[in-house]
Amino acid sequence: EEAERTERIEAALAELGDDVVILGHNYQRREIVEHADFVGDSYQLSKEAANADADYVIFGGVTFMAESADIITDDSQSVILPSMEASCPMAGMAEALQVDAAWAEITGAAPDEEIIPITYMNSYADLKAFCAEQGGLVCTSSNAHKAFEYAFEKGDKVLFLPDKHLGENTAYRLGMEDEIAEWDPWDPEGKAASEVVANDIVLWDGYCQVHERFSESHIEDLRERRPDANVVVHPECRREVVEAADVVGSTSTICETVENAEPGDTWAIGTEIHLAKHLDRWHPEVEVLPLCGDACMDCNAMRQIDPNYLTWVLEELVEGRERNVIEVAPEEKELAQVALDRMLEI
Ligand code: 13P
Ligand code: SF4
Repeated sequence: EEAERTERIEAALAELGDDVVILGHNYQRREIVEHADFVGDSYQLSKEAANADADYVIFGGVTFMAESADIITDDSQSVILPSMEASCPMAGMAEALQVDAAWAEITGAAPDEEIIPITYMNSYADLKAFCAEQGGLVCTSSNAHKAFEYAFEKGDKVLFLPDKHLGENTAYRLGMEDEIAEWDPWDPEGKAASEVVANDIVLWDGYCQVHERFSESHIEDLRERRPDANVVVHPECRREVVEAADVVGSTSTICETVENAEPGDTWAIGTEIHLAKHLDRWHPEVEVLPLCGDACMDCNAMRQIDPNYLTWVLEELVEGRERNVIEVAPEEKELAQVALDRMLEI
């Protein structure tokens, strides 16, 4: 079945030529990554989209990534997501409407202070636009610390969305761990806005369901079994996991860590399982182990990009039909671009 599908994909690509570029996030299945012109982290892929001359950018990733590609590419290009079901649950944990209501509360509780909202790339375009409007910006897992520094130069406090773990790990990196408050505005037993705003860093209560499942015991067990093994994890992991690891970084940092390893070294990978599998294939000279030991750390959103859907969108393009185009509304696009540009400046 795979051989037949590959033939169909190649035939469609031959027909479409330079009109199409395929981008694949590091967490995509092998059958997608193998057809991608570029494989990388979410930020690198947006930049590849911007550099691409192609009329169609087929995005092997999740909705917020395709939206970022649409914001960055010019209006004549279409960004296509092979499955409309590929939505990152963490991005959905900070809906712009909810944040807007919470923003009124928190700014009302601190009328004399300037709060700067920072949103992680893993968020929808309307939230990026909201952050731009309020003087804030976007960041990725590799430049979150710089975004915090920018915000504290400009204002007094930070509201970080949606990933509380990346926010906490960044606060530690900056030596600001005593300034953190977690905030769930809808938790009747949680802290009130007036309480959280007494701290300099307010963390929205969002998280990645894949990375949150890694625990300190995964690392302790591994170190007991394999004292020679090194551990690299993504900063969406809990604080105690990040603290117990040897290296922490974005998916591209994880790739570079294994690329730069000495032959015979052992690296355990604390992130989505597909990347661990790719690294094992790409670097046979290094021993690559999934930190969790089995296949439990699978991102269901990334998994929605089935190779059969990739075949479908390509064959439809050959027939002149554009399917699953991701289009950010023009007003949002302009503002979200401002939030992304501020990130590029830092
Ligand atoms: P990167 O930006 O590091 O590629 O991560 C994206 C992501 O979804 C992590 O869960
Ligand atoms: Fe979202 Fe987590 Fe999946 Fe990344 S791994 S796309 S943050 S759910």
